[in-house]
Amino acid sequence: MRKILAAALGAAFLASPAFADYPERAITMVVPFSAGGPTDTVTRLVAESMSKELGQQIVVDNVGGAGGTLGAGRVAKAEPDGYTLLLHHIGMATSDTLYRKLAYKTLESFDYVGLVTDVPMVIVASPKFEPNDLKGLIDYVKANKDKVTYANAGIGAASHLCGMLFMSAINTPLTTVPYKGTGPALTDLMGGQVDFMCDQTTNTTNQIKEKKIKAYATTTAQPLAALPGVPTAGEAGLPDFTVGIWHGIYAPKGTPKPALDKLTAALQKALQDPNVVARFASLGTVPVTNEEATPAALEKKLKEEVARWKPVIQQAGQFAD
Ligand code: MLT
Repeated sequence: MRKILAAALGAAFLASPAFADYPERAITMVVPFSAGGPTDTVTRLVAESMSKELGQQIVVDNVGGAGGTLGAGRVAKAEPDGYTLLLHHIGMATSDTLYRKLAYKTLESFDYVGLVTDVPMVIVASPKFEPNDLKGLIDYVKANKDKVTYANAGIGAASHLCGMLFMSAINTPLTTVPYKGTGPALTDLMGGQVDFMCDQTTNTTNQIKEKKIKAYATTTAQPLAALPGVPTAGEAGLPDFTVGIWHGIYAPKGTPKPALDKLTAALQKALQDPNVVARFASLGTVPVTNEEATPAALEKKLKEEVARWKPVIQQAGQFAD
């Protein structure tokens, strides 16, 4: 029924003379995590630039919870009229396996605007946490596994994925403390209420530089110019520990193609905005190319990543009901 309604709406939308002026009012872009975290940071930078191109405000709506799946479900159910979007990351793919029940179908409930950026991660700790390097962290965690706490943004978050890979790599399960985003988690990390986490550089670079948190290693093959002096996990003794957090913009299935085309064009313009490029660079990341900021590239990436992470997650045995 929804498909018929969406198709009818889409056709009416296309036919309506008003459509040519899309967008005629503010657009909502849902961030499926709390304000102040890495996904929020990326979204606000891109949305601000896109809104200039579209001539309408893009209002960011933080809908946190359940590792990003609540926010994704909100957008899946929204009217496919071009006025509700989702900016989400790799969690869109991992949640497809992690959650036995989702309020949406990962590969059927969304249309695609384009990829945005691929953000590195860094293993960070409270300044009060004893270990001072990655090898010291691994030894300490193994010897104190029942008292060490690891923060993440819920099952399905990038911080959850990195933690799952880390615990598998050292063969040591840990107590995790879930938050609605790594923005609030970082606050507790700086205060020493939680011991360590793996988070995106878009949330941690400034705090590392200001020595408000410790940085053990990045999850990249090469060291990051934005984090001089921080070794890669490979250099620090954990080989082949690399994970990048790709981000994309989605719309509810049935969103009219001319609206999607305008959104993709605005996204590509935003990713070439010198301010966006400079801010991304200062936070350890770069925008994708125009060829990747397309619906086809995002759809291909999502399908590949759902397939890639399924066996890894099944092997780690971490699921959510
Ligand atoms: C995560 O996946 O850990 C999220 O990116 C955290 C956030 O954006 O708040």
